[in-house]
Amino acid sequence: MNPGFPSRRRLLGLAAAAGVCGLVPRVQAAAPETLGSIAARAGLLYGASIAAEVESDKDYAALYMRETAIVTTDYAMKFDALRPTEEQIDFSGADRIVAFAQANGLLVRGHTLIWNENAPAWLKRKSSAEIERIFDSHIETMVTRYAGKIHSWDVVNEPFWPDHGKPGGFRDGPWFAAMGESYVARALKRVASLDKEARLVINEAHCEIDNGWGKAIRPRLLMLTERLRDQGVPLHAVGLQGHLQPQWAYDDRYFRAYLERLARLSVDLYITEMDVNDESFDPDPARRDQQVAWRYGDFLNAVLSVKAVKMVVNWQLSDKYSWYADPALARKIKGWRHRPLPFDAALARKPAWQAMADAFAARGR
Ligand code: G3I
Repeated sequence: MNPGFPSRRRLLGLAAAAGVCGLVPRVQAAAPETLGSIAARAGLLYGASIAAEVESDKDYAALYMRETAIVTTDYAMKFDALRPTEEQIDFSGADRIVAFAQANGLLVRGHTLIWNENAPAWLKRKSSAEIERIFDSHIETMVTRYAGKIHSWDVVNEPFWPDHGKPGGFRDGPWFAAMGESYVARALKRVASLDKEARLVINEAHCEIDNGWGKAIRPRLLMLTERLRDQGVPLHAVGLQGHLQPQWAYDDRYFRAYLERLARLSVDLYITEMDVNDESFDPDPARRDQQVAWRYGDFLNAVLSVKAVKMVVNWQLSDKYSWYADPALARKIKGWRHRPLPFDAALARKPAWQAMADAFAARGR
């Protein structure tokens, strides 16, 4: 099965940029290496989440065009972004991002059809029967609207959250409350019936962390994947988000072994939201950037040794637009701005860029 590489045109563009295809005329210097071109040579898709900033920040848009082969809709395709009220569905943000990606030969990850976390208040007031109807109709509306334009759907995001105390450690929310665990298979089957091309993904957080959350979620995700495979439910890949939290316990070797166990269920593996929380690192930005780079390198060297890993996606490209920079979300630690990504707020490469490039290249050797 084609693991969803960019089109031949895009790949030649990437390869030409990397100067490896030998078609680059001698007189031209090869275009500078990019994370996308280096990853493509190693059989990987590299990308980043993308949001409305690319419409106003043309330099940032250009960075996506240079560095990525695939983009994930950060907010625009979420239920609450699309449907702030019951009467209204606003596709405009999602349509603009999909159009940008198509105009620039970038593949698109649709994030996310079903997530118990971001339900608008009006949905929570509905009866279970109404929620089931809305569930089916939302999936049908989105999947038919974007059919042929989506490389992969995060069909279900973050199915587990044991802290909610629900049976099986499932995340509570309107979809789970109305249908129990069955909402997962129901969503996957419905998408598969509407789009035969898009790859279907369950996307989960925390598995790369070796604290209570990681230890509780990993086995549950593995068993859910196993049940879905045993029941013949369509599922192509499992997304592990990769929001690295070095301030907490982690064991890359153990996580690598976990990925191998998932891979034995014949699913591809995507690292879908990678960034590094630098709150526990050195206050000096230069030293902190090096620590972030080391963390990226260690993590990627571990996970990229697993053949089933086919994709690595950052959660945004630049510190300027990281979710850690969002005043509503950011933990202002020691009064500094977080530096979690391969490009700084001025869109310049950081040591993390080189660490990622080296890990991609090592995969290709
Ligand atoms: O765009 C609206 C704006 O019009 C409005 O004025 C403003 C104030 O209400 O809200 C803006 O939307 C915000 C949106 O980000 C875009 O900035 C939402 O309130 C805010 O909740 C939303 O936060 C996002 C969060 O998911 C919830 O959707 C974060 O940016 C995003 O990084 C985060 O991403 C999640 C993944 O989807 C799943 N994995 C974890 C990851 C990090 O939490």
